[in-house]
Amino acid sequence: NRIDNNNFYYTRGHYIVKQYEQDSTAKERWEKSVSKAIERFPERKQTFTTSSGIEVERLYESKEADTSETLGYPGEYPYTRGIQPTMYRSRFWTMRQYAGFGSAKETNKRFRYLLEQGQTGLSVAFDLPTQIGYDSDDAMSEGEVGKVGVAIDTLQDMEHLLDGIPLDKVSTSMTINAPASVLLCMYLAVGEKQGVPFEKITGTIQNDILKEYIARGTYIFPPKPSMRLITNIFEFCNQHVPKFNTISISGYHIREAGSNAVQEAAFTIANGMAYVDAAIESGLEVDDFAPRLAFFFNAHNNFFEEVAKFRAARRIWAKIMREHYGANNPKSWKLRFHTQTGGSTLTAQQPDNNIVRVTLQALAAVMGGTQSLHTNSRDEALSLPTEDSARIALRTQQIIAHESGVADTIDPLAGSYYVEKLTDEIESQVNRYLERIKEIGGAVQAVEEGYMQREIQQNAYEIQKNIESQDEIIVGLNKFELEEEVEPDLLRVDETLEKEQIDTLQAIRNKRDNEKVKEALTALKETAKDEKANLMPYILDAVRAYASVGEICNVLREEFGEYTGV
Ligand code: 3HC
Repeated sequence: NRIDNNNFYYTRGHYIVKQYEQDSTAKERWEKSVSKAIERFPERKQTFTTSSGIEVERLYESKEADTSETLGYPGEYPYTRGIQPTMYRSRFWTMRQYAGFGSAKETNKRFRYLLEQGQTGLSVAFDLPTQIGYDSDDAMSEGEVGKVGVAIDTLQDMEHLLDGIPLDKVSTSMTINAPASVLLCMYLAVGEKQGVPFEKITGTIQNDILKEYIARGTYIFPPKPSMRLITNIFEFCNQHVPKFNTISISGYHIREAGSNAVQEAAFTIANGMAYVDAAIESGLEVDDFAPRLAFFFNAHNNFFEEVAKFRAARRIWAKIMREHYGANNPKSWKLRFHTQTGGSTLTAQQPDNNIVRVTLQALAAVMGGTQSLHTNSRDEALSLPTEDSARIALRTQQIIAHESGVADTIDPLAGSYYVEKLTDEIESQVNRYLERIKEIGGAVQAVEEGYMQREIQQNAYEIQKNIESQDEIIVGLNKFELEEEVEPDLLRVDETLEKEQIDTLQAIRNKRDNEKVKEALTALKETAKDEKANLMPYILDAVRAYASVGEICNVLREEFGEYTGV
């Protein structure tokens, strides 16, 4: 054992046990961390009470102290009850609605509208050409420009997207994977133009290529160069953008592809371990990047299972990071996650029913301790959401936060015989899957062999069979249907956008310093050949010169090739 100057001392060789941990109970430790946490985030109220004036305590627990390190305390290892000592008593989860369509200017308007309506974080949906690294004027982009998200070709589009939005005050999530490095550099370049130092910029890039191979499909490059780009981002942000979350390891799309809750948690955590392994293999220390790993889960309809899934996932990840990887920094042990309510649970039939589904799913995410939340709009089984539908979705979160009382005490379902049993059971089933994936050789190998994909497909088949047999009732879909449905007003993306976007891109190509672009792309191409080199500085130079997403990705396609799938 040795004591360092932070009054920590090291024991069992691989993780910190704080000095005071030796001479205090778990509860005393938690109480100390509460006092520290409320210095930065005081609790929202002096006293919390129910409608009858009964005081709502910060935390409820069993009479016998929990010494098993199974339940633990909020903000304390293994974080079953949440990652913050006071959770929502101090700060609600971030209300972060996924949005983006048409041009950058149009999406900027929706961003401003949502922020005016009380949203507390941004979340960018990009169109498919951007997500797959094609410019709007590429033949592959025809008919998709601005359709499922905002069209971003060059830094100018990013400037329009973020116009009037202070990057030192608002955190932005970007759902971007294969070209994540390019869009992150564009975001940083906008920060530079706003005079915001990189160190102050906060946000998240999804940057999770494994689930793209498994479920979502917006990959470009083969696994090896993709993992290199991802760990390049880890290294670059650790050095220059320390408050930026470098990856959002996603279970959302795995669930949307048809997995069950256990598979969602298991395959996501397995992918998370693959990223940690890749980063360590690239020479990074685990505590240099693990504090900025983030997660993204789904919330489907089975309320208690979803709550238990989140609690189990936190505990599993904490144990893996401390015990398996020997991470010393408690921030490396915390599973911080965003939740989106289940898109695939929405029905095109009787769309207003979806408001109820989304409410239950959002409630599960909150009772499960999410850090950030997107609530789907009632019409999203039919199209991108209208402004009215997006507002109702945001109001759903605000009503849960301000009117339901569930945010006034921490992890309120703890101690429930059902929830604790379900948490334990999910934990053990997830661990069985992790063992299986380890036998295969890890997540990358399992993806390349199609193991996870087969498990998901099998479950998707079971789900569909149960719906068709009415073993699973979906109200309005296979029971309580209506004779006829009136289609609601839907959002339509203006078809002329594609041409306008192409004209804008052409104008930039004519106006920019093409010599500078050529130099930057050549330097990127040369550096890409050196597997040990970090490509981020070269991509940053290219975007500063207004090189486009497609131009940069095409240089990398030449070097890395394209992945043709399993
Ligand atoms: N006490 C003390 N501190 C607290 C606190 C409390 N109670 N609550 C929050 N804080 C602190 C946090 O520690 C943090 O400070 P730090 O960065 O210095 O540690 C700060 O307040 C902000 O809190 P969070 O980090 O918890 O909240 P964020 O919202 O900033 O981050 C996240 C949440 C999950 C870590 C982040 O990764 C995130 O925002 N993810 C969002 C991902 C997303 O939106 N994805 C959408 C994808 S859409 C998609 O893919 C679906 C499509 O394909 C259909």
